Amino acid sequence: MNDPWIAPSILAADFARLGDEVASVLEAGADIIHFDVMDNHYVPNLTVGPMVLSALRKFGIKSMMDVHLMVNPVDRLIGDFVEAGADMITFHPEASDHVDRSLSLIKSSGAKCGLVLNPATPLSVLDYTLEGLDMVLVMSINPGFGGQTFLPMTYQKIEAIRQRIDVVNPAIRLEVDGGVKIDNIGAIKAAGADTFVAGTAIFGAEDYGAVISAMRQAMN
Ligand code: DX5
Ligand code: ZN
Repeated sequence: MNDPWIAPSILAADFARLGDEVASVLEAGADIIHFDVMDNHYVPNLTVGPMVLSALRKFGIKSMMDVHLMVNPVDRLIGDFVEAGADMITFHPEASDHVDRSLSLIKSSGAKCGLVLNPATPLSVLDYTLEGLDMVLVMSINPGFGGQTFLPMTYQKIEAIRQRIDVVNPAIRLEVDGGVKIDNIGAIKAAGADTFVAGTAIFGAEDYGAVISAMRQAMN
């Protein structure tokens, strides 16, 4: 299995000081940054676009940027995000009329690609797509807001996807997003996840480093 990665979500950061917040969380031991993009159409909330990602790159952020698109349509934004500095782009298959085309667009633009499964999205979206993915992102909440409670049915879903990934290509990352905290990250890893998004649990704390080390400890 891949090494575990902790991916703080910018959604819970102080947006007025975003560059400093991202730098601090990386200094505190985060592996990658999870960049949530919401359009007030696919999800009922609005965040930031490629200009803000590009500003973080100009500010000096060099880490891997994991861009989670909660937008519809998807394709129009792919090139802009890659140009802005995205390394990984994931999207919701329900938001694209042509999932294979959107995946191909991401790959041909030079980024890694992934699909996001909402709580009610069936695993059948991985038929014919899984082989070509770099990541599967499992939502453990309904997308749109931070600070929600982890849905326990997610464990079973992670286990089932882990089995499929191990058959196809164990290098594919299995990421979980929503309600991840110190007290459930061990169980989420045991179910088979290797990449852990955490917004509130990290940015809501006083000491980012303390939370990240406690999360690592809870996974051992
Ligand atoms: C929600 C976003 C998440 C969110 C998670 O739609 O995709 O990345 O920031 O926030 P927490 O960790 O607070 O549940
Ligand atoms: Zn997210």
